[in-house]
Amino acid sequence: MCGIVGCMGCPNGTLETLMDGLGNLEYRGYDSAGVALGPVLETRKRAGELDELRKTVAEEPPTGDFGVGHTRWSTHGPPADRNAHPHTDESGRVAVVHNGIIENYQRIRDELEAEGVTFTSETDTEVVPHLIARELESGSDATNGDGGCSPADAFHAVVDRLEGSYALCVVVDGHEAIFAARQGSPLVMGVDERATYLASDVPAFIERTRDVVFLEDGQRVELRPDDWTVMDADRSPVEVSVETVEYTAEATGKSGYDHYMLKEINEQPDALRQCLSGRLDELDGTIEIEELSDLEEPTSVQIVACGTSYHAAVYAATLLRGAGVPAAAHLASEYATAPAPLGKGTLVIGVTQSGETADTLAALREARARGARTLAVTNQVNSTAARECDDVVYIRAGPEIGVAATKTFSSQLMATLLLTEDLVGLAEDLDPLIEALRDLPGAIQTVLDTTDAREVAAEIADSDAYFFIGRDRQFPVALEGALKCKEISYEHAEGFAAGELKHGPLALVTPATPVFAIVTGDGERARKTIGNIKEVEARDAPVVAVTDGRSEAERYADLVLEIPETHPLTAPVLTNVQLQLVSYHLANDLGRPIDKPRNLAKSVTVE
Ligand code: AGP
Repeated sequence: MCGIVGCMGCPNGTLETLMDGLGNLEYRGYDSAGVALGPVLETRKRAGELDELRKTVAEEPPTGDFGVGHTRWSTHGPPADRNAHPHTDESGRVAVVHNGIIENYQRIRDELEAEGVTFTSETDTEVVPHLIARELESGSDATNGDGGCSPADAFHAVVDRLEGSYALCVVVDGHEAIFAARQGSPLVMGVDERATYLASDVPAFIERTRDVVFLEDGQRVELRPDDWTVMDADRSPVEVSVETVEYTAEATGKSGYDHYMLKEINEQPDALRQCLSGRLDELDGTIEIEELSDLEEPTSVQIVACGTSYHAAVYAATLLRGAGVPAAAHLASEYATAPAPLGKGTLVIGVTQSGETADTLAALREARARGARTLAVTNQVNSTAARECDDVVYIRAGPEIGVAATKTFSSQLMATLLLTEDLVGLAEDLDPLIEALRDLPGAIQTVLDTTDAREVAAEIADSDAYFFIGRDRQFPVALEGALKCKEISYEHAEGFAAGELKHGPLALVTPATPVFAIVTGDGERARKTIGNIKEVEARDAPVVAVTDGRSEAERYADLVLEIPETHPLTAPVLTNVQLQLVSYHLANDLGRPIDKPRNLAKSVTVE
């Protein structure tokens, strides 16, 4: 999704700071990029990879003391130079970068075109520089004595007119300032003694400062060479706190791995240690999440989420139902417009790695508007979800840069497991679970050290499609295995509840469609899933068993991915790690751009 950077007073050079920032935001997903530097306004922009922009700025470097930059993820108009940001007015006096969607842009565009303004792009954003230019010429809030507005007045007057979601940064030719506004799209500010930064996300400037102001919806910012002001929509200054973020520049680097995804898969033992830290009491045999101490036991639970986080929500709902609490996972994009009925004491949980996913935020807002208590399970401290919900549980996975969620899924699974125990109680005797949780980081390491995923991926490459089946707590792993496979390898993949295969999808099963069967334990679920494996085998499809070896699954499988024995509630983390690795190797062998899959964005900030 679009990424914004801005800097004022950058000691290492404005262009370099902006280009570094855009590079650090590549993980968000984009298809074009651009920069604008001031005070003598110069813009450069190009469709395609950041390298295209690098070539352009190398040929004709723009100069300036401050500036803004943008990576665009297309919504209005295809990837093309004309649609890349910054957008400017007809005279080239105003440059704007924007993340979000301006919902009333068509009305504004019609109005401006009727006045004779010529648009050069199909974007919603372009209305903003034209509106600001018009205000500068003829604004009613005249404060500069020549019949028009000051740049600051023009900026605020235009932002007042905008509907929808936006993080906006504006530079006006000849004026030493960056104006910014946030409404529904993330925008953070980094500060140090010499420079100020703006960005969609902290990694943009993490190697320059870790001191951050997390801006709120409705807030606006004016950056000037010697100071900065945060204000509300009425332009009254707002006192904000500067927080020091914990992660370092190293944490967002690749640390020698070929891809962030592989690095993040390998970080799972540590991520889980952090997630569990201070939340297990082995002596007392208890599990407690400090953040939830004020939360009463809910009568029912609705969990809203998207993509991978939705799969964690399916797992969590399974646990809650197992503990006797009515619970369901909902796709946030559906829930936002077709919410489930709330009962007295219903808790609505939003699971979201970024805390900025527009569909999830919309679902949570819908639930709040109808009176539900809301809880965010998120990785991003101070994200919109964290701030808007009544309660928050952090999954503490650390920064995840690869578009494909990996370590955050594992941490979401375990954070929701802890949360379920804390809220409603999972079992009388928690000792076996606590022991399994304590050993889980080590068990993941064993999978990472011994996995045959690379060989399995090579063996099944060039298939027509890939299917994943699992039951109960392994059903969300089947869904996640398929999502990971399709998003990074671009191969067709589907996940099914094992028992559903025979109700339709079996028609797709052929010798050219490997089926990954996730079978753990030796109980009824395992026996039934083995029955499903036999159905697949009878159609001559290759079977890959992902198993702890406690059932006979291996006997009927062509290939095996083994996990160490563990508790039934922690087993999904281990089976999923094997599937993450298979998808990674499949995609790597196919030469896919693993960290930045086509058309996808890390944080989806539009509905
Ligand atoms: C998964 O690999 C994707 N990145 C995507 O499905 C993601 O999980 C989804 O967009 C939700 O994001 P969130 O967790 O930040 O809300």
